[in-house]
Amino acid sequence: MLSGKRILLIITGSIAAYKSLELIRLLTKAGASVEAALTPGGKQFVTPLSVETLTGKKAHIEMWDDDAYEMNHIELSRSADLVIVAPATADFIAKVSRGEGDDLASTLMLAKNKPAIFAPSMNVEMWENPAFQRNLKTIESDGATVVSPKVDALACGEFGIGKMAEPETLFEATQQHFALATSLEGKRAIVTSGGTIERIDAVRYISNFSSGKQGNAIAIALAKSGAHVTLVSGLNSEVSASHPNLNRLSVESAEDMHQAVHESLPADIFVGCAAVCDFKVSNASDRKTKKAEGLNLTFEENPDIVASVGQLPKEQRPSAVVGFAAETENLIENAQDKRRRKGCDLVVANNVQSGAVFGQQSNTASFVSESGVQDLETMSKERLGQEIASWIASHLQD
Ligand code: C5P
Repeated sequence: MLSGKRILLIITGSIAAYKSLELIRLLTKAGASVEAALTPGGKQFVTPLSVETLTGKKAHIEMWDDDAYEMNHIELSRSADLVIVAPATADFIAKVSRGEGDDLASTLMLAKNKPAIFAPSMNVEMWENPAFQRNLKTIESDGATVVSPKVDALACGEFGIGKMAEPETLFEATQQHFALATSLEGKRAIVTSGGTIERIDAVRYISNFSSGKQGNAIAIALAKSGAHVTLVSGLNSEVSASHPNLNRLSVESAEDMHQAVHESLPADIFVGCAAVCDFKVSNASDRKTKKAEGLNLTFEENPDIVASVGQLPKEQRPSAVVGFAAETENLIENAQDKRRRKGCDLVVANNVQSGAVFGQQSNTASFVSESGVQDLETMSKERLGQEIASWIASHLQD
């Protein structure tokens, strides 16, 4: 699977850098060609000579090397199929999150047009620092895959999360990346995300707490798997997904979303993750209602977008239709019922008791399909997005 793949490995300054030498060995043994760049800090922990001996290629350190004119940062980043940053220090992740390019390694990250896997390595307090966690989220929502560090005794003598994932784990993540990268190649997907808004008058609207994080994570995971994705997103989405395979449409109301989805068909995959307002205001005013006039709203039902796609005739219906069920009680029965009623292949069921899920970084879900129920552990919304993409890929193969 890795044969012929070109990997650019960036080694930054952490004691875990010695493990990257083993990673190079695993990757090259599997047939990949590895080229490495070291930050000045990385060079303190492993020598360029060790790296060059294992990769069989010159290790790149300086932006202005003698041969800079022939192997500059653009060429070096373009020639790779995948970039792995291992170990990735808190400082380097901060730089990447801000888009800085003040040395060769950070400039490579800025210039690359390929996916990246990060293997963070740091002290537990650094890992838990809110500023670092913000930066980590930023690189994840920009499309990076993060292989989490482990909880263990750390090189600094403290105990906790921060120890870089083992070379074997990074090797598996690399294999998984290439398996995923082609699993949905050539497929077209439509994903709805965020909440719709329904106008009351010229200045007021009704909406809900959806942040759009889960829908964006699914859209990114499908795009990373090779699908061409149209992300139809509510205007008040907190986050914006970006990936070369992804095209984003912003919509306001449920009716706009319904129309955008149907105009984007045909597709092989439809994922309805948006929190669509079930009702719209039928007597909305196009001017601002005065307080003295009072507010007497009447409602009418919005179209059900997932059902309108799931119930299409076979030749127009996407082969994989995924809906969500946010429930506070009888989670599985309600999700199974929803799956049949709306014509979904899979319903991702969430327990939203006490507001859990909305706006959070992680999600606890169950996959409800014709073949039964699969309870998933609590995981980041990014990882749940990948699980959904994998489920879809195997469903399309069946
Ligand atoms: O029936 P309920 O709103 O709980 O179902 C949730 C699922 O249906 C989600 O996948 C949501 O995106 C979708 N939905 C929809 N159109 C609506 C209401 C919900 O697509 N009008």
